[in-house]
Amino acid sequence: MEKNAKIYVAGHRGMVGSALVRRLQSEGYENIIVRTSRELDLRNQQAVTEFFEAERPEYVFLAAAKVGGIMANNIYRAEFLYDNLQIQNNVIHNAYATGTKKLMFLGSSCIYPKMAPQPLKEDYLLTGPLEYTNEPYAIAKITGIKMCESYRKQYGCDFISVMPTNLYGPNDNYDLNNSHVLPAMIRKFHEAKTEGKPFVELWGTGSPLREFLHADDLADACVYLMKNYDGEQFVNIGVGEDISIKSLAELIKETVGYGGQIHWNTDKPDGTPRKLMDVARLHEMGWKHKYSLEEGIKITYQDFLSKMTEYSV
Ligand SMILES: NC(=O)c1ccc[n+]([C@@H]2O[C@H](COP(=O)([O-])OP(=O)(O)OC[C@H]3O[C@@H](n4cnc5c(N)ncnc54)[C@H](OP(=O)(O)O)[C@@H]3O)[C@@H](O)[C@H]2O)c1
Repeated sequence: MEKNAKIYVAGHRGMVGSALVRRLQSEGYENIIVRTSRELDLRNQQAVTEFFEAERPEYVFLAAAKVGGIMANNIYRAEFLYDNLQIQNNVIHNAYATGTKKLMFLGSSCIYPKMAPQPLKEDYLLTGPLEYTNEPYAIAKITGIKMCESYRKQYGCDFISVMPTNLYGPNDNYDLNNSHVLPAMIRKFHEAKTEGKPFVELWGTGSPLREFLHADDLADACVYLMKNYDGEQFVNIGVGEDISIKSLAELIKETVGYGGQIHWNTDKPDGTPRKLMDVARLHEMGWKHKYSLEEGIKITYQDFLSKMTEYSV
């Protein structure tokens, strides 16, 4: 990827897209094209076709998607399926039609089968039933991976896919209605601290094990693979280590400086006992994460504080 290459980062205002732009700029890439969803609704086939015909990006990072926590995925099932299929169909097909040199599609660790063995190896995709709550999202994402694979096979396109684990970092979504566990905890502990609440209630027992990757590490891995990988098989991106939700809560509580208690509401479900990626292939390719969880949470809490008014805390 030459320094003056024309690179389109789709979804540049999101957590992943903004990290990708930061990463590319820090490496001296200056010819980066971006559009907000208002300027270019990627669900609109005509608009996307016109955009690609006019701009003809040489490289595309497809980090635009409809994304949310378990509740949003389950309630807006039709939107998660339709929006994501439209976005990826339009972008991938038009990248092919206008001769994009290379494209990266982002999947997600939550699209592996519900009962897949742990740690999750790349080979486990499509080996069993999916988790019901996010099935529409997963079906769309699996289709995106298959599109990249199929456009490579039929048309020879250098389109690759990656499978990131749970992410966190600057520009995360702290809205409790549709946020993921880590930003939701940051907000809950911060609010409890400022309002002087004696305890914070969290769902489940705290025993499930989860893996978390900083968005800047993900962006680093994506740019690394864009430069160094051109295989058909998608690649897991993670840290290869997990932490219990209980330990995560303690870590965030300490970072936020909250002095109260944590009450575990064991009437609420725990979800899958463990979710961990097997990152052996990525490590063999020469990439490893840099941020420790402690360091990453400190940075993310500062990001949350800078956005407090937006979330009217
Ligand atoms: N977050 C995670 O933990 C995680 C984990 C694994 C994989 N991923 C994958 O990483 C990718 C990015 O996720 P994220 O967490 O960065 O999401 P995010 O913060 O919600 O950002 C998504 C971006 O997509 C854009 N977008 C959504 N609908 C659009 C539309 N119709 N037209 C144009 N743009 C649209 C939005 O643009 P505007 O801001 O302009 O509206 C937004 O900036 C997704 O493919 C997701 O599956 C995320």
